[in-house]
Amino acid sequence: MQEKPRLIVLISGSGSNLQALIDAVQDGIMDAEIALVVSNRRTAYGLQRADQVGIETFYFPFKPYRIAGQSREQYDADLAMKLGEYKPHLIILAGWMHVLSSTFLNQFPGQVINLHPALPGQFDGVGAIQRAYEAYQTGEVDHTGIMVHYAVPEVDAGPVVVQRTMHFLEGESLEDFEMRMHTAEHGLIVEATQCVLDAGRIYPRSLEEK
Ligand code: GRF
Repeated sequence: MQEKPRLIVLISGSGSNLQALIDAVQDGIMDAEIALVVSNRRTAYGLQRADQVGIETFYFPFKPYRIAGQSREQYDADLAMKLGEYKPHLIILAGWMHVLSSTFLNQFPGQVINLHPALPGQFDGVGAIQRAYEAYQTGEVDHTGIMVHYAVPEVDAGPVVVQRTMHFLEGESLEDFEMRMHTAEHGLIVEATQCVLDAGRIYPRSLEEK
């Protein structure tokens, strides 16, 4: 029996993108297993979403490291150690609001993907959706988009797995635009995950070696 690819999802907030992945697995759309959900924020509702379906969770805040005067690299190294125990095939950053350094990324080469609500090279960092909306209001841009890319130490950069252009609607409120963007994200994160897993199947070594 072929083992299912093991996914680990990292979140910091409501986890609606995590929910999209959970639903895709439960609906049989994605043949994978979410082995662990990690959050750096205790109040992240995504932890409850995982609990509701029996997925193991791991709350791992940076604050104790900061209070102890320890570096982000130490945090990243410890996080990598913990996740390595699960032998993940793919780590998905779904609204994870902590920039992971090469200390972490080097432990999982080609196995970490990140969802970002903008197109490559545009609006990287936080508040991307609102910044794009404002740039449209001032005529700076006539479209924006969403992408899932391989994570690299540089924020919201890295080779793109899949991206989708999103056009603005005249007179649309920011709230409605955000809703449309999040709905599009939910589809894209499943599509991107499936795409990476399928690629892995083409080169089974990368899936089997762990
Ligand atoms: C998403 O818009 C994601 O692209 C951004 O943070 C949001 C996370 O939403 N980085 P959720 O926690 O998945 O609902």
